[in-house]
Amino acid sequence: MIVSGLSLKTFAIIVGSAAALRAVQFCLDLRRLLRSIDYLPGYRTVFSSTTVFGNLLPRIPLLALGRAHSWRLKHAPFAERGLDIISAVSFWPKPVGNIYIADVQAIKDIIWSRGLFPKPLSQYAVLKVFGSNIVASEGDEWKRHHKVVARAFSERNNRLVWDATTQIMLELFDTVWIGKDEVVVDHAVDLTLQIGLFVIGAAGFGRHISWKDDAVIPPGHQLTFKDALLTTSHDLFIKLLVPRWAMGFTKRFRRARLESDELQRYLTEMIQERKGFQLKEDDEDLLSSLLAANNDENLWKDEVKLNDSELIGNIFILIIDETVSHSLAFALALLALYPDKQEELYQQIKRVLPDGRIPTYDDIPSLSYSSAVFNEALRMFPPVTNVPKSSAENTTFTITDVNGTQRTLRFTTTVRYSSTQSRSAIAA
Ligand code: HEM
Repeated sequence: MIVSGLSLKTFAIIVGSAAALRAVQFCLDLRRLLRSIDYLPGYRTVFSSTTVFGNLLPRIPLLALGRAHSWRLKHAPFAERGLDIISAVSFWPKPVGNIYIADVQAIKDIIWSRGLFPKPLSQYAVLKVFGSNIVASEGDEWKRHHKVVARAFSERNNRLVWDATTQIMLELFDTVWIGKDEVVVDHAVDLTLQIGLFVIGAAGFGRHISWKDDAVIPPGHQLTFKDALLTTSHDLFIKLLVPRWAMGFTKRFRRARLESDELQRYLTEMIQERKGFQLKEDDEDLLSSLLAANNDENLWKDEVKLNDSELIGNIFILIIDETVSHSLAFALALLALYPDKQEELYQQIKRVLPDGRIPTYDDIPSLSYSSAVFNEALRMFPPVTNVPKSSAENTTFTITDVNGTQRTLRFTTTVRYSSTQSRSAIAA
C-alpha cells in the first residue's frame, strides 16, 4: 500500500510538474506572440479561424470567431477599436496570431509587394484539386502561370465577354422569359450562376450554351458540357472537402465525382483539339489565348511551359469562379430593396440608350450608374472577404486611427495577414 501510495504521489508530482511547465511555456509563448504583434488589440479566441475546425464552428464568444465572420461583421470590429488594423490571437493548440487589415493603403502595400508578403500556400492547397494554378502558387511557379493567364485578360477579351453577355441575356429574354409580364426568381444565384457560366462557356471556350435543355450528350460522355459545367460548380464543395478515396462512399459523392470528371474530360478534349493552335484575329476566347501563350516560344526561353494538368488547373480556377455570379445576385437584391435607386439606374440607361438599342462595350463609360451599383454591391457584400498573406520579416505599418492620430505598428514575427476592405454602411 505504501509503495503504491508513493508511486501515486510521484505520479501526481510528475503530472503536476509537466502541467506547470506546459503552462509556463504557454504563457511565455503568448507573451512573445503579443509582443511580436505590438500588443495590437483584437479578437481573442481558443480556436483559430484559419484552421478547418475553427472555421466549422459557429460564432461562440471566446471560443471561435465563427464561419465567415469578416463577411458578417464587416467593418464593425475595426470601428469598435477605432483602428483599421486588428489582431486575432488564438490559443489552441498553441498561441497563434493573425492580423486583419482594412486600411486601404496597407492593403495595397501588401498586395503589391508579392515578395515580402507571399500567400500562405497551405491555405490555398485545396484549390489544387484540379491541377496547379495561378491562385494556389507563389514565386517562380506563380510567374510561369502568370505569363500564360495574363494573356487572357486583354481589352479584346473584355469585348468578347461583353458581347457574349449581351447575347446570353437577349436569348434569356427571347426564349425562357418570352411573353411573361412578370418573372419570379426564388433564389437570384440560380439565375446569375447560369449567366456567369454561360458567359464563360462562350467567352472562355467559344462554346455557345443554350438556355433550353435541348443539347445532346456527345459520344464518350455521360453529361452535356452545360450540365458538367453547372453541376461541377454547384457541387464544388464536395470535391474540395472530400478526399478522392472517399468519393465512392455515397450517391451524392459519386455524382459529384462524375460531374467533375466529365468537365475535366471536356477540357482535356478541347485542349487536344486546339494543340498547335495559331491565334487568329477574330478568334480569341480565353482557352485559345492560354494555349497560344503557352505555345509562344519567345515567352519561355529557359523555362518549362505549362503542362496539360496545369492548363486545366488554371481553366478550372477561371471558370469555377462564382465571385461574379454572387456579386450580381447581391446587386439585384439591393436594387429590389431600394426601388428609388433602381429607378435612377433605369433612367440613366434610358438616357444613354434612348432608342432602345442594345448597349455596346463602348457604352460602358456612359453607364456610370450601373458601375456604381455593382461597386456598391461589392463593397457591401464582397464575395472575397479575406485575402490571406504571410510575412517572414519584420514589418512596419503606419495607420491613422479614428481620431486622426498616426500610429506606427511594428510586427516582428512571421505574421499572417488577412486584408478585408468591407466597411459597413448598411442603412438600418
Ligand atoms: C467580383 C468579381 C471578383 C472579385 C471580387 C475577385 C477578387 C479577387 C481577389 C481578392 C483575388 C486575390 C488577389 C491577391 O491574392 O492578390 C483575385 C485573384 C484572381 N482573380 Fe479574381 N475576382 C473577381 C472576378 C474574377 C474573374 C471573373 C476572373 C476571371 C475569369 C478572376 C480571375 C482572377 C485571377 C486569375 C486571380 C489570381 C491573380 C494572381 O494571383 O496573380 N477574378 N480575385
